Amino acid sequence: MPGFVDAHVHFPQVRIVGSATGPLLDWLERSVFPEEARFAEEAYAREVAGELVARMLAAGTTAAAIFSSSHPGATDVLFAELARAGMRAAVGLTLMDQACPEALRLPVDRAMAASAALCERWHGHDGGRLSFAVTPRFAISCSRGMLEAAARLASDRGLLVQTHVAENVREGEETLTAHPWGTDYLDVYDRVGLVGGRTLLAHAIHLSPSEWDRVAARGARIAHCPDSNFFLGSGRMRAHAALERGVPVGLGTDVAAGRTFSVRRVMGSAWDNALCIGQRLEPSVLFHLATLGGAAALGIDGVCGSLEAGKDADLAVIDLPASVGDAAGALAELCFATDQTRVRASCVRGRCVHGKLAWDPSR
Ligand code: GUN
Ligand code: ZN
Repeated sequence: MPGFVDAHVHFPQVRIVGSATGPLLDWLERSVFPEEARFAEEAYAREVAGELVARMLAAGTTAAAIFSSSHPGATDVLFAELARAGMRAAVGLTLMDQACPEALRLPVDRAMAASAALCERWHGHDGGRLSFAVTPRFAISCSRGMLEAAARLASDRGLLVQTHVAENVREGEETLTAHPWGTDYLDVYDRVGLVGGRTLLAHAIHLSPSEWDRVAARGARIAHCPDSNFFLGSGRMRAHAALERGVPVGLGTDVAAGRTFSVRRVMGSAWDNALCIGQRLEPSVLFHLATLGGAAALGIDGVCGSLEAGKDADLAVIDLPASVGDAAGALAELCFATDQTRVRASCVRGRCVHGKLAWDPSR
């Protein structure tokens, strides 16, 4: 099958999976910010970068949109590890210049200079396998000046923008306290020019119908992160609000608010999430979100996300039990029976980047 696409994951949170200190803003303060501060040390970042990439590839994930920490050095280390391992990814330096510990704060001028340097060094690396994504963490942790500078950088260079939106009710209230000029959460990003056809918004749980209409009108995309939403008690995202409007949707593990690197487990969570609000996401739809939908969310569906002539051979090779006899059985197994089957190998552009195959997929 096509490799899985993880549309939202945090590099500096690999070692805090399972920190049950939520909801969101408490969890950020108690668990996330202290851990992310450790990424000032590049040796630590290097160790964790190896773990992150190995765990994603072992789960059959061949492409991902990744938040780094706010440290340029750690971000460079992550790019280097992805370059070495052969994985496909968009990576962003996480931008924060307010409402966070001093150790994580990066003023606008330094943030933009570092982003530009990382972009020069890595954007388009290896024929476009790696790309740089402009990554304001979320509106609370960015001044208006930072949001505007981020939007300019993205539009000048044609880069993906990734951020969080409408994840948690208190977060929504604090967003409008920090940015009282916004009429609603989406408007804070929209007014500075951050919402466009290359914008990937994670969570999108508490958007109003009017905000959804603007997401669709701008051509933005959504990373649906249901496992994370369950773990932090953030709420139930209405995937149909996006799908009915033709908004591309991918699935995000959102480690470490999410507890798993397996996009398969997130397919199961997306099913549960839909049922909780009286909706259904059929396994064939879940499979789409986990592969081609995620690729569309990252803007790479022209080169991967499905098995089609002319696309790169980004593959997950998964052993299904012999009892699985048809497509419906295979989908059920992939989405819901995750402990029975294993990912034998992951390939990017036909090159085996995890596990072993008896045949050469590049031929
Ligand atoms: N909002 C701002 N930062 C984060 C983060 O690291 N994880 C999640 N889930 N939401 C966020
Ligand atoms: Zn996140």
